[in-house]
Amino acid sequence: MKAAVRTRYGPPEVVRIADVDKPTPKHHEVLVKVHVTTVNRTDCGFRAAKPFIVRFFSGLIRPRVTVLGSEFAGVVEAVGSGVTSFEVGDNVFGFSEGRWGAHAEYLSIPEDGPLAPMPANVTYEEAAPSTEGSRYALSFIRKAKIQGGHDVLVNGATGAIGSAAVQLLTSLGAVVTAVCATEHVELVRGLGAYRVIDYLAEDFTKDEQTFDVVLDSVGKSSYGRCKRLLKPGGIYLSSELGPLSMNPILALVTPLFGGKRVMFPIPPKYDQEMVGHLKGMIESGELKPVIDRRYRLDQIVEAYRYVETGQKVGNVLISVDPGT
Ligand SMILES: NC(=O)c1ccc[n+]([C@@H]2O[C@H](COP(=O)([O-])OP(=O)(O)OC[C@H]3O[C@@H](n4cnc5c(N)ncnc54)[C@H](OP(=O)(O)O)[C@@H]3O)[C@@H](O)[C@H]2O)c1
Repeated sequence: MKAAVRTRYGPPEVVRIADVDKPTPKHHEVLVKVHVTTVNRTDCGFRAAKPFIVRFFSGLIRPRVTVLGSEFAGVVEAVGSGVTSFEVGDNVFGFSEGRWGAHAEYLSIPEDGPLAPMPANVTYEEAAPSTEGSRYALSFIRKAKIQGGHDVLVNGATGAIGSAAVQLLTSLGAVVTAVCATEHVELVRGLGAYRVIDYLAEDFTKDEQTFDVVLDSVGKSSYGRCKRLLKPGGIYLSSELGPLSMNPILALVTPLFGGKRVMFPIPPKYDQEMVGHLKGMIESGELKPVIDRRYRLDQIVEAYRYVETGQKVGNVLISVDPGT
């Protein structure tokens, strides 16, 4: 089968299309013919080994896994003899971070892994990008115990995490103030934001409103700059380690003093429950992943280059089977 392979860490150009062995599903595994996958920031981080800590999970000198790709949607092609929950021909989607392998024509995944049947009203293009950014958003929301009526500010509301966060928060009944650039104000309003701040016109950290939670989904701010935006007891969350990698340390220290605090949920949980939860949300239409560009598998290097500009809007898709 064709796959996007890399055997060393480095820039997008370390990835090439090659013929590799098609996986054989084990006893409790499902073999999925991948129709659509994505290139996301997690793929970029593991491809480049940035931050360095990535090497402790995926190989100190060179990567143990040669085919990346975490998000996928496709059809079950074969099942192991012990599989009871899925059948050949089922449309499925899921998230294979850790195992990886979605940047290929086929991947195998345990039937009890982060995998779910695709809702009938959702296409492969809608299902594939519904897990990576959304699972970060979901884990932030759960960690901070955000509820209906909470005032939440989302910085980076056009990213994969931010665009999912705005939708998940809105569906909970939280009142979302979203921050993005001028050209994306209408898009973000359409995701459900109650108020939108154009960061090219004003500095959101100087806003007069205060919030129960500030979620910086692109990691461009700091707790120091955002603290004044928090209500008493308010929470600051970021998708990045922050200046001097202080966010995890602040998450340990700030709760000791009571009042405003930092939370840093690592690693975001992903399992079948999470994918099942997101399945419900895409089925009901509460979550519609924002789609930016589409590439073919043989254009994956170009896709990586674009994702690494840090300017993608939502998600970048890879069509593995252009016929679908
Ligand atoms: N290393 C890893 O394994 C890993 C994995 C997942 C996520 N992350 C981190 O999590 C963050 C979010 O990931 P993502 O995929 O959601 O991001 P993304 O989709 O790449 O975010 C792109 C969006 O960020 C917005 N943006 C850029 N600069 C901004 C600024 N100064 N203020 C506000 N918005 C800005 C841009 O929209 P506008 O034009 O509207 O500004 C763009 O649409 C990234 O920082 C990423 O590094 C890291």
